[in-house]
Amino acid sequence: MIEVTASARSPLGMSPQAFLRDFWQQRPLLIRRAFADFESPLTGDDLGGLACEEFALSRLVVHDPRSDHWTVRTGPFEEADFASLPRSHWTLLVQDVDKWDADVAALLEPFDFLPSWRIDDVMVSYAEDGGSVGAHVDQYDVFLLQGQGRRRWQISTDRAAPTAFRDDVELRLLREFRPTHEWLLEPGDMLYLPPGVPHHGVAEGECLTFSIGMRAPSVGEMVADFAGFVAERLGESVRYADPGIAPAKKTGEIDDKALEKIESTLRDSLAVDASLLRGWFGAFITRYRAAHEALPPARALSAAEFTRRFKAGESLQANPWSRFAWSKARSGATLYVAGESFHCTRRLAERLCRRDPLTVAELGTLETPTLDLLLALLNAGHLALGRIRSKR
Ligand code: SIN
Ligand code: CO
Repeated sequence: MIEVTASARSPLGMSPQAFLRDFWQQRPLLIRRAFADFESPLTGDDLGGLACEEFALSRLVVHDPRSDHWTVRTGPFEEADFASLPRSHWTLLVQDVDKWDADVAALLEPFDFLPSWRIDDVMVSYAEDGGSVGAHVDQYDVFLLQGQGRRRWQISTDRAAPTAFRDDVELRLLREFRPTHEWLLEPGDMLYLPPGVPHHGVAEGECLTFSIGMRAPSVGEMVADFAGFVAERLGESVRYADPGIAPAKKTGEIDDKALEKIESTLRDSLAVDASLLRGWFGAFITRYRAAHEALPPARALSAAEFTRRFKAGESLQANPWSRFAWSKARSGATLYVAGESFHCTRRLAERLCRRDPLTVAELGTLETPTLDLLLALLNAGHLALGRIRSKR
């Protein structure tokens, strides 16, 4: 089974448990009508406008089917850039659209069965007829939701499929691609692909596609960051030691006994307890690949002013660029926000990780520790009363 039809009760066409057990990170799945009666929260014009914003990450990919020549340009763009495009065979792609548009961010709700820190962004592409980014593989899981118009997707489930890239194109395009499956996706249909599955999607007429992409730090990045964290805690005074060694037999040789010592030294120093490991990972993952830094308000808010405005009905909204996560602590929770950690109740930590605005009614009567935390997050730019600001 590789194709299912969703229903209102099961947008994945099966329970999240069944999806995670049988498909997640393993096999592609086409879900017909995953978003029933889907209406795109965005038009191609909206996306074009966003691609002209200074800090939006955007690309234009133009393909000449006769010469098989590909051109890639990165934004920001100007209106004139769009006016000079050919009639067909081009695609505009914008990353992180969920951070700019709350309706696009709302598309992430059905993915709540995944840890939110595993979700990276919603990338949106607009293509004219024949538009595509070529056959390629991604290193992350992706849910490709058809937003408007139709796109023909071809994939290969052949595990031995060649992975060499073309060296004449700026994009990482596959040199060879032999599809094993092909579908025409309509609005609301969604194709799930685990990492490493060759795929190629070509627009049939004007087409908008939403790519819900996952985050997966490379293990190399994790090891490097963790080693840095451990090294900082160890400081300079804990040194390599080798009491009781035998006289060196051959000068310059790193012998087996020394190697055992080196191995045990590294193993022992990297063995941290669960609470340190949680603390490191929470900070690492909420900092990882952060595209923007929170901008604190021009003037720090006082506790009295904050309480007055919050109690008067203004709601608190998370800065969409600040990543939130939490873990259990001995008492309550540790909340991680953009690499920093704070102590609070589990209820509040969980609530702050949900992205919908937080009202005073929801929090009941504010207690001082809660108030202090909210004020600190507000004055650091991770929360906002009303409008959200961010800077690169
Ligand atoms: C696209 O939207 O055109 C490409 C998305 C992808 O293949 O990952
Ligand atoms: Co892709």
